[in-house]
Amino acid sequence: MRSYQQPYEDYERIIEIDFLRATEAAALNTLPWIGRGEKEKADAAACDAIRGMFDLMNICGEVVIGEGIKDNAPGIFKGEHLGTWSPGSHKFDLALDPIDGTTNVSKGLPGSICCIAAASPEHDVGFSMKDVPTFYMMKLAYGLRVVRYMQRTGIETISILNPIEEIIPLVAKALRKRVQDLAVVILDRPRHQKLVEAVRSTGAMVRMISDGDITAAIAPSIADSGVDLYVGIGGAPEAVLAAAAIRCLGGDLQTVMWPRDTGEEEAVIKAGYRNELGKVFYANDLAQGDNIIFCATGISDNPLLRGVQVHGHTAVTHSILMRARSRTVRMIEAYHDLAHKTIRLRSTKGETPI
Ligand code: FBP
Repeated sequence: MRSYQQPYEDYERIIEIDFLRATEAAALNTLPWIGRGEKEKADAAACDAIRGMFDLMNICGEVVIGEGIKDNAPGIFKGEHLGTWSPGSHKFDLALDPIDGTTNVSKGLPGSICCIAAASPEHDVGFSMKDVPTFYMMKLAYGLRVVRYMQRTGIETISILNPIEEIIPLVAKALRKRVQDLAVVILDRPRHQKLVEAVRSTGAMVRMISDGDITAAIAPSIADSGVDLYVGIGGAPEAVLAAAAIRCLGGDLQTVMWPRDTGEEEAVIKAGYRNELGKVFYANDLAQGDNIIFCATGISDNPLLRGVQVHGHTAVTHSILMRARSRTVRMIEAYHDLAHKTIRLRSTKGETPI
């Protein structure tokens, strides 16, 4: 007979859908700001919806990775408490980016998502998500087949410390592809000029993106994403969020702290990180343990998810929800009836029509 008294220990299974509701709500609340040239208002709308949803969640959530230091915009930053914090409720470390690709949202371009990684405390895991002291990290992300190739060959053949011209032929071999069929995603930035030339010199395809490198780094871990490799320098918080997602999917991400100038380098050394400069951090160094939940909702189309679409009175959101422990990946398409839909906002302290 079914017992309704049975305690349900795996709280993450229950609460995970509320994390997803938060990213969905942020994507929906951002909708009015797409293409409006108002980055900060878009960011504020996403943050308002996230905070509002967390106000309904009986958890003790602490933001351990917030938005990048570059955003002076209304963001959600490290140290903020989210959730009701009612006594006895579950503790979660939170990493979130209300909008990755804010400029894309403001310009009405593809390449933006809202994402959250959450981790409950675990035995023998000192910290769940690494607080990286530099603004940027150098990143190299690849999928599970490349990881398996590296395990089979038994040596660290593919290392972010090696020239990209050496990495690319090995990735092609691991994926059993011709080099010219390999798609390498790179953020379109002047600092990547030499990198782009080097990738092109191998014959591989370069796919430039203007912003939003969380999904770019996750994409090689998704079969049929059309992205084989992500490489380049991007935000450090974005690296940690991508690492959390990759931990749920099974590829890997190699990163190295990348101080912007000698001033930042000196500050990082002064803060006690000398030994970590130049060190390679893998996905499981940035996002540790098995208790990791990752979810994201597309705002505009990106390599991982379609953006929000509105058909008549219905808004359709596309999200991903997954856990490192089980590696179950759920792709969730949700239909929101705009005649009925409300979003809980922090600013209004109540359910608000969109
Ligand atoms: P925001 O949406 O927070 O502006 O970040 C967008 C982004 O493209 C990230 O995905 C990426 O990691 C970072 O900016 C790169 O930084 P920069 O624009 O300084 O090159």
